[in-house]
Amino acid sequence: MDMKTEILDHEVSSPEDSNPEAGRSSGNEEEMPPEENLLASDETPDRGNSDEDHIKCELPRSSRPERGSGGGNPHKGTPVIEVINVKKSYTLGDMEVPILHDINLTVWEGEFLAIMGPSGSGKSTLMNLIGFLDRPTEGKIIIKGLDINTLSDKEVAKLRGLEIGFVFQTFNLIPRLTALENVELPTYANTREGVNARKRAKDLLKMVGLEDRMHHKPGELSGGQSQRVAIARALINDPAILLADEPTGNLDSKTGCEILSMFTRLNEDGRTIVMITHDPEIAKYADRIVLVKDGIVQNNSE
Ligand SMILES: Nc1ncnc2c1ncn2[C@@H]1O[C@H](COP(=O)(O)OP(=O)(O)OP(=O)(O)O)[C@@H](O)[C@H]1O
Ligand SMILES: [Mg+2]
Repeated sequence: MDMKTEILDHEVSSPEDSNPEAGRSSGNEEEMPPEENLLASDETPDRGNSDEDHIKCELPRSSRPERGSGGGNPHKGTPVIEVINVKKSYTLGDMEVPILHDINLTVWEGEFLAIMGPSGSGKSTLMNLIGFLDRPTEGKIIIKGLDINTLSDKEVAKLRGLEIGFVFQTFNLIPRLTALENVELPTYANTREGVNARKRAKDLLKMVGLEDRMHHKPGELSGGQSQRVAIARALINDPAILLADEPTGNLDSKTGCEILSMFTRLNEDGRTIVMITHDPEIAKYADRIVLVKDGIVQNNSE
């Protein structure tokens, strides 16, 4: 494919250009993504975790019949993430420890991909490479046609800040900041022109059902509420890609289902999602499941 060697302002600031159907915000402060309220009508945001740990997700399925059960990718249009012959080793003392041996993976625009695999197999390592939190030892990562090996640190930071939203298992909120300040935080480094960050942060918190918790600090929030703040934070710059590393791993099943429900709706509105999970119940809501094992993608059908 045509690999661009430089990153231009408009390329990172107008992701919707490449997917006009996606319906994501255009950077205009008055506009919000169509996922105005990510809570299903029967979801109660402040429900306790109590005794319902074994409930299976029963989300309303998408109207697209081919979705679910990892059963194929209905999108296959534009590749949004390309991982090409990627190797990653860590140096421990004098020893080089190979973690990822030869990863090849394409994620298509609008796809919901689940990554599974045994503990220690390198799933988070791969996710961190895709999210530019780390660089590969060898190989290429291409995001929206931009080869990160050819970008400066500043350009990488901008691409990451605007086009990639990260959700972590442990939420990673800043304890001394309120929910609102946490959501707004990424805009201090990167922001889209014409966006009123404060207003958008408030709108996103409302969207995830936390309007009444925006001035609370993470220590005053439940796990599910914290993860919803983290999702709002991940969406603040209206990224094309949402990366989630075991986003339901620290939540009870019911709260996990609420989070998954938000992801499926964000995906149905056109956002590309890559999610690591250990839970087959969760993974089956993805378009496609890949298994990382022994440092390679085992069942890569793409
Ligand atoms: N910074 C690092 N330095 C050295 N080794 C590391 C580093 N980060 C990860 N590793 C090693 O890389 C391997 C893969 O780790 P990774 O966190 O990617 O696994 P994982 O598949 O996400 O596991 P889990 O399911 O338990 O989260 C592990 O053996 C880990 O010890
Ligand atoms: Mg991990």
